[in-house]
Amino acid sequence: MEFSVKSGSPEKQRSACIVVGVFEPRRLTSVAEQLDIISEGYISNLLRRGDLEGQAGQMLLLHHVPNILSERVLLVGCGKERELDERQYKQIISKTVKKLNETGSMEAVSFLTELHVKGRDTYWKVRQAVEATQDTLYTFLQLKTKKDGLRRPLRKIVFNVSTRRELSIGERALEHGLAVAQGSKTAKDVANMPPNICNPKYLLEQAEILAAIYDNLHVSSVNEKQMVDLEMHSYLAVGRGSVNESIMTIMEHKGGPSGQAPIVLVGKGLTFDSGGISLKAGEGMDEMKYDMGGAAGVLGAMHTISALNLPINIVGILAGCENMPDANAYRPGDILTTMSGQTVEVLNTDAEGRLVLCDALTYVERFDPELVVDVATLTGACVVALGKHASAVFSNHNPLAHELINASEQSGDKAWRLPLWDEYQDQIESPFADMSNLGGRGAGAITAACFLSRFTRKYNWAHMDIAGTAWVGGKNKGSTGRPVPMLSQFLINRAGIETED
Ligand code: BES
Ligand code: MN
Ligand code: ZN
Repeated sequence: MEFSVKSGSPEKQRSACIVVGVFEPRRLTSVAEQLDIISEGYISNLLRRGDLEGQAGQMLLLHHVPNILSERVLLVGCGKERELDERQYKQIISKTVKKLNETGSMEAVSFLTELHVKGRDTYWKVRQAVEATQDTLYTFLQLKTKKDGLRRPLRKIVFNVSTRRELSIGERALEHGLAVAQGSKTAKDVANMPPNICNPKYLLEQAEILAAIYDNLHVSSVNEKQMVDLEMHSYLAVGRGSVNESIMTIMEHKGGPSGQAPIVLVGKGLTFDSGGISLKAGEGMDEMKYDMGGAAGVLGAMHTISALNLPINIVGILAGCENMPDANAYRPGDILTTMSGQTVEVLNTDAEGRLVLCDALTYVERFDPELVVDVATLTGACVVALGKHASAVFSNHNPLAHELINASEQSGDKAWRLPLWDEYQDQIESPFADMSNLGGRGAGAITAACFLSRFTRKYNWAHMDIAGTAWVGGKNKGSTGRPVPMLSQFLINRAGIETED
């Protein structure tokens, strides 16, 4: 999709379709009013006759409106003017795009970006419009043999801003929105790819494809043999039951001065989590192909920041691995020595994410990081706690937690902090090893974070549990591309780039 911003009046547009809002009950937005005047009351007449009430998401497509230069006018219900909030705005944008795609208009000029959204500015409205549009139009058809596409799909949208003064901020919002959407698409594509194709090596190859495009991006990897030399025995144990070799992919974006401490992102990349010897139940097990959602999110965020060429150093780690039952698989009862030297008693081979991450988190000490954020579909307990709307954030450093929560609010990619209090550490004590990989009954998301916290004492660190947010199941199943928007926002902020009017 091609996007642009413009500042013009509706009656002067010569487009396949112009999109204007109508509030409930039957109240024209100022833009719709301008069209109404030019068309000698054509629109208000229709509303009076009851063709459109203005409820959020209602659509009325008009052809050949008198005195209007555009071929079509799409009236979009925006609900009650005072109640138009972020969520409704995004829903309206999404419904409009679906409608436009069906109408046969290949381009459109949208005035919806001029709507007043509580507490949000033009930058936000344009950027969210771009992201919501790309998200709505996303499909994963790579493995379908018949790709039945639309005959006349929407190709170009112009977003209108109310004054010329807002054009430059609108342009920046477009640029950022496109970069975030591109990163989200990368995350979705790799996450939706089935586990017989998407294995740890595939993750590495996707990183290499990006590195071939962007000069500042460099990729290297650590294979099993090298992990043995590094004594990453915990990571290695998880992959031992799989014929797909464990591979840790390292992506380095060198946008800042050499010597500047990098921000490090670490993604859990379980390309399939069967549970191992502690095998999962069959129902829904296919969804465990998404257990590499953390790595997908890191890959996507690396794509976004490469596209924006942020002037800071950033390292992205994709901790690729597959957890399978096998004669060679690790077992409950095994005691592993992690790269940090600490020992772990395995009580459940399905609590594998923390075993992979702990070694990756020790590995990244070599970068002397400014800070480290890991992202993981780590616990079912996180889904119980927060459902599918918010990711969980944990941190050993309050300012970092606040920065991440702020980035989440700015980007609309919701996250909520959970505690990492020492009281919870008792739950992972083991009589035989330094700790166990199982926290027992309560607070499963927190005890998993507590486990990781024992490997991150040397730097400022945050952990994001995205078990509930990385994908959706059911008939509209698929990766969400989260938390690419929030990670990207966090990094944009870190680079000192303004994202407000
Ligand atoms: N990848 C799963 C977590 C998960 C489960 C994410 C369902 C999303 C939906 C993780 O490896 C896992 O299996 N965790 C176990 C931990 C338990 C054995 C302590 C869980 O949550 O049940
Ligand atoms: Mn598991
Ligand atoms: Zn897992």
